[in-house]
Amino acid sequence: MPGNLIGERFVTMSFGESHGTCIGAVIDGCPAGMPLSESDIQKELEKRRPGQSAVTTQRMEPDKVSILSGLFNNLTTGAPICMIIWNKDSDSRTYDTVKSVPRPGHSDYTSFVKYGGFSDYRGSGRFSGRLTATFVMAGAVSQKLLRHALGIETVAYTKQIGSIRLEEIQFDDARKNRYTNDIRCPDNEVAKKMREAILKARRDGDSLGGIVESVTVGMPVGLGEPIFSSLESDLSKALFSIPAVKAVEFGSGFAGCCLHGSENNDTFYKDGDKVMTRTNNSGGILGGLSNGMPLVIRIGFKPAASILRPQRTLNLVTGGEVELSVPGRHDPCVVPRAAPVVESMISIVLADHAIKSGHVPAVLNG
Ligand SMILES: Cc1cc2nc3c(=O)[nH]c(=O)nc-3n(C[C@H](O)[C@H](O)[C@H](O)COP(=O)(O)O)c2cc1C
Repeated sequence: MPGNLIGERFVTMSFGESHGTCIGAVIDGCPAGMPLSESDIQKELEKRRPGQSAVTTQRMEPDKVSILSGLFNNLTTGAPICMIIWNKDSDSRTYDTVKSVPRPGHSDYTSFVKYGGFSDYRGSGRFSGRLTATFVMAGAVSQKLLRHALGIETVAYTKQIGSIRLEEIQFDDARKNRYTNDIRCPDNEVAKKMREAILKARRDGDSLGGIVESVTVGMPVGLGEPIFSSLESDLSKALFSIPAVKAVEFGSGFAGCCLHGSENNDTFYKDGDKVMTRTNNSGGILGGLSNGMPLVIRIGFKPAASILRPQRTLNLVTGGEVELSVPGRHDPCVVPRAAPVVESMISIVLADHAIKSGHVPAVLNG
């Protein structure tokens, strides 16, 4: 299957380039009869849109979505849903250099070699963070489907920027407060420190990385397929498709790998009819299948590659080493804009598995 598609029964395709005419997503396999409107998608896109704060790129894109197909009387028809955004504010002037002088840490070198110099390098083309808007379009449809059919909800927020970390937080507080600041961290005091760290990095001509944490509630038992399509496998693949992701951790993750079994095992108990576990070190997945507990995932983002501070690189034409400083409109830290992207990628995978496992029918009534 070509690399721009994801999913088996709920299939998402992402298309477009950062500085091309438009970007968009097509979903094939969305059940019929689900209420859907452009405002459902727009609401999610607003959370990721650039140019809204000093901690993001100053590229001003309105990111107004149009749904071109798959809807009739504000209900999904079961036909492919095509959604697009026209690019409005691309400025390709600063990208002429990267054709022959690749940015350290970015995709310029690998994409130039793989596509023989034919790939659209303007604004990083298909490798740009801008393409994550197409993930959010498809994610908005997936989130609506999961909420509508099963009551599943995913909440992602900024957990760490550089060395500043948010401590344990209650799900309801995270859900309520994550969009109350431009860092997308549900604790405003911690967010303030994170913002200062990002702005300092920007002033220094540098960038910072960090971690997004995501919690999904309302999970049924048994989403996931054996072995190669386990929930962890498919979620990891989707999350690693987000540019700049370098680590994905489920439940107690690496810390749990340093414990004894007696410390890390989640013991079972019954709450009414529901089988629960007292702790959730597994992150809601056992044997690659959801166990009904919240899905807990942490996603690590590297510091953005495009920085003003001069760095050594190669001139691919002359073969000599040169110094490169990257001007232009870049995110000094991609994490604040990544939380809605994480929610989207998780929802795209869960929608696919929910359909595959028969939890969501082909036609929804009401
Ligand atoms: C929302 C978002 C925005 C991003 N913005 C930038 C940016 O402004 N500058 C940059 O160098 N990288 C940015 N990135 C990351 C690059 O797209 C990514 O590092 C690059 O394509 C290389 O891929 P890799 O880091 O996965 O190896 C962004 C990523 C995301 C998710």
